[in-house]
Parts: sequence; structure tokens; C-alpha cells
Amino acid sequence: MTAPPILIAPSILAADFGHLAEDLERVVAAGADWLHLDIMDGQFVDNISFGPAIVKLVRGLTTLPLDVHLMIERADHYVPRFLEAGANSITVHVEPEAKHDVSATLRLIREQGCRAGLTLNPAMPFAAVEPHLHHIDLLLIMTVHPGFGGQAFQGEMMAKVRHARALRDSLGLNYDVEVDGGITPENAPVSIEAGANVLVAGTSIFKSADYAAAIRSLRGG
Ligand code: DX5
Ligand code: ZN
Repeated sequence: MTAPPILIAPSILAADFGHLAEDLERVVAAGADWLHLDIMDGQFVDNISFGPAIVKLVRGLTTLPLDVHLMIERADHYVPRFLEAGANSITVHVEPEAKHDVSATLRLIREQGCRAGLTLNPAMPFAAVEPHLHHIDLLLIMTVHPGFGGQAFQGEMMAKVRHARALRDSLGLNYDVEVDGGITPENAPVSIEAGANVLVAGTSIFKSADYAAAIRSLRGG
């Protein structure tokens, strides 16, 4: 099986919201493959970010795939609004605190022609996502506890990444394996070697002086 290409998904949480359009234009020109949009409701995670209106605004600024990461309760209730806003993939959490029927939400996303993603917090065992592997297009392994950008990468999560990739290959599935949280040019090779093919990065791109150089070094070249 040929290795999928490495995709870089800048998380706009770390962008300058005072100059969002300009920052996005720069990151797109710098070679971003997707844009990652972190939606936080102050309930499922201890932070509040932005909602569908900003996703729609970003949709109007770029044709790149928009990778929407819902860190919210009752994702099923809000999914239609993010579909309407122009999401290309919508990732939901498997933890019971997310208060939704995970299978039903994944179905709802896919039925609308959108890619469905599933994710789990560092504390959650991999077994929690296993029953859903045949029904997802993307598996996101959190490498920090979600809620804030700028946290330190948890290398112990690489065991989950390896497992995700091994199961994908042995079951003949084709979900993307994505990592999110504290990803830098220093630890990107570890994630790639473990089997991740999509790297989300906020701080290490948007807080760098040269977005193109940051994206190139995350990609490993
Ligand atoms: C964390 C979010 C991440 C975050 C990553 O809750 O899911 O996508 O924006 O930011 P960095 O790369 O700064 O850790
Ligand atoms: Zn995220």
C-alpha cells in the first residue's frame, strides 16, 4: 500500500483575528492543504472560540478544504449549521460528555456528502473509537487535552496513532489519521513515522515569521 501524502492543516485559532483575511491569504499562499477550524462551546471544553458565521466567512475567502473540529456538546444539533457554512469535514468527539449519539451524528454528516471525522481526548482509550472505524473518513488523535492552542505535545499518544494506522491498513479502510495539539517541526517526524498523514498546527505556523518555511518543515522537507 503506498503511503498517503502528508497534509498540513493550519489551525486558525492561532491566527490574528484582527487581520484574519490577510493571515488566511498568507497561509494559503504558503502551501496549506486544509484549514482547521476549532469550534469550542465553553461546555465540552473550557474555552469559547467561534461558530458557523466565522466558518462561512472563511469559506468565502478560500477554496481549500475546511476541516471543522467540533469540541461542543450536542454536535448533532449543530452539524447542519456547519454543513450550511461550508465545512468539508466535520469531526466530533467520542467522549460521553459530548452528549450525542456518535453513530447517528456520523451518519448525519456523511448523508449530507461531508466527510465525517471522529476524535478522542488523550485520556480516552482507543477502544472507544473502534466500533466506528468503518463509518468515518478521518480519525483525529488529540495530542493535547482540547480547549487551548499552545500546549505541549503528548508523545505518548503515538501508540494510538500507530494503532489507528495499523487497523486502517489491516482492515482495508481509508480514513485519514490526523494529529492535533502542540505539533511542531521538531515532533512532526514522530507523528509521521507513527502513521499520521494530516498534521494540524496552530502556534507553530501562525506564530512563526515565515509560514511557508514552517509548513515545509512540518511536512518534513
Ligand atoms: C486544541 C485544538 C487545536 C489547537 C492546536 O484544542 O483542537 O486544533 O488549535 O493549536 P496548537 O498547534 O497551538 O497546539
Ligand atoms: Zn483542533
